[in-house]
Amino acid sequence: MAVKYIPEPFRIKSVEPLRMLTREEREQKIAGAKYNLFGLKSEDCYIDLLTDSGTNAMSLEQWAGIMRGDESYAGASSYYKLIDAGRDIFNYGYIQPVHQGRAAEKVMMPLFLCKGKFAVSNMFFDTTRAHVEIAGAHAIDCVVKTAKDTSLRVPFKGNMDVERLEKIISEHGKENIGLVVMTITNNSAGGQPVSMQNMREVSAICKKYGIPLDIDAARYAENAYFIKRDEHGYRDVPVKDIIREMFGYADMFTMSAKKDTIVNMGGLIGVKDANSPLILKIKANCISYEGFYTYGGLSGRDLEALAIGLYEGIDENYLRYRVGQMEYLASRLDDAGIAYQSPVGGHGVFVDAAVMFPQIPYNEYPGQTLAIELYKEAGIRSCDIGSYMLGNDPDTGEQLRADFEFTRLAIPRRVYTQAHLDIIAEALIEIQARAKQIKRGYRIIWEPPILRHFQAQLEPVSS
Ligand code: F0G
Repeated sequence: MAVKYIPEPFRIKSVEPLRMLTREEREQKIAGAKYNLFGLKSEDCYIDLLTDSGTNAMSLEQWAGIMRGDESYAGASSYYKLIDAGRDIFNYGYIQPVHQGRAAEKVMMPLFLCKGKFAVSNMFFDTTRAHVEIAGAHAIDCVVKTAKDTSLRVPFKGNMDVERLEKIISEHGKENIGLVVMTITNNSAGGQPVSMQNMREVSAICKKYGIPLDIDAARYAENAYFIKRDEHGYRDVPVKDIIREMFGYADMFTMSAKKDTIVNMGGLIGVKDANSPLILKIKANCISYEGFYTYGGLSGRDLEALAIGLYEGIDENYLRYRVGQMEYLASRLDDAGIAYQSPVGGHGVFVDAAVMFPQIPYNEYPGQTLAIELYKEAGIRSCDIGSYMLGNDPDTGEQLRADFEFTRLAIPRRVYTQAHLDIIAEALIEIQARAKQIKRGYRIIWEPPILRHFQAQLEPVSS
């Protein structure tokens, strides 16, 4: 039976109309977009679950903050408000705004990585992996084995495999590991959280070998909520204290603020030690790539909304509702026997398309196939997190096989209602009922060399 839907802790003041095309129109639109969901116009999507990034609804306070934003080039009051909030929440000595997560990665990765070096993560997000590779280094994913069995309901499937991490360090030599990155929550494994215990262990290993530890903090608040809910000893600890403890184990963080900070644009870099020599290098890279270090590629109004969003994103009532949405949708899929990465994660439901379409091989992209079916079925836009997104081996050019073939239903924050979630569940149930008739997947007819899934063109494989 579906779990109880946790009511929205807000009411709606401003609305955006939605339009549903006919099935025939949707089939034409997706063919016109060369079967790439990124190629669709948003007005042609009824429910847009492409990403939870930058698609959040801002609050009354944030919109009011937009008007108060100080647009000075240097030393704006909005900048000081932001760094005060950042220092307060993370207990870090230095906070640097940037325009989004990948900008933080662009600034930071070359400071630690170069040709011949390795970076290890519980799982790299695609842009993070790309910036490791752009810096000349190799990215190694090292998630716990439990993550790979989507039906296994155990907590903290986002964790790092600490035994394997030590093995990787000894294999490649500690001097060649430029950086360890903890992605919280672990997006590519299904928005799965990392436990405090695991963070502590990874931190101890990094200290032992003298390797810097970075948090990829896009969904740090959802991660803290899971620790509170599921980890022994944290039930009565405020989310903010959990965050401070978690960040205390790392040396720095890079953050896309377009997720848990509930804004439409923004990012942050943090450095724990206010006297770290790293800070001057970050400022130098920022000034070259992003803008002066007191605005980092953002308008004053963005800095202001970000400062407010940092606090709204860690509100425990909000987080209960937020994670409750995922639980509600997941429970509707449970009722219908539809497989997904379980227990459900923090920012979306990751449907296991390899289970829905066992007849479609990884190199015909089951996750992408289901995403296309969902659009045709009900105008729902989602995306593949699988072999299609992973791409080709940079050395051999061969298609890599991903650990998962997910269709990600990423839920924007404070945007969709229970009725929308029901429509999503019902569309999946319809597709599941005719899944056997979908015999073949898709092939790529054109692709760019890096981050191909944003732009690639596909066609159906005819049986
Ligand atoms: N790290 C993680 C874990 C992410 O999920 C993302 C973005 C980034 C870094 C990069 O941040 O987009 O602000 O430059 N993820 C989005 C997604 C795009 O759809 O999952 P960005």
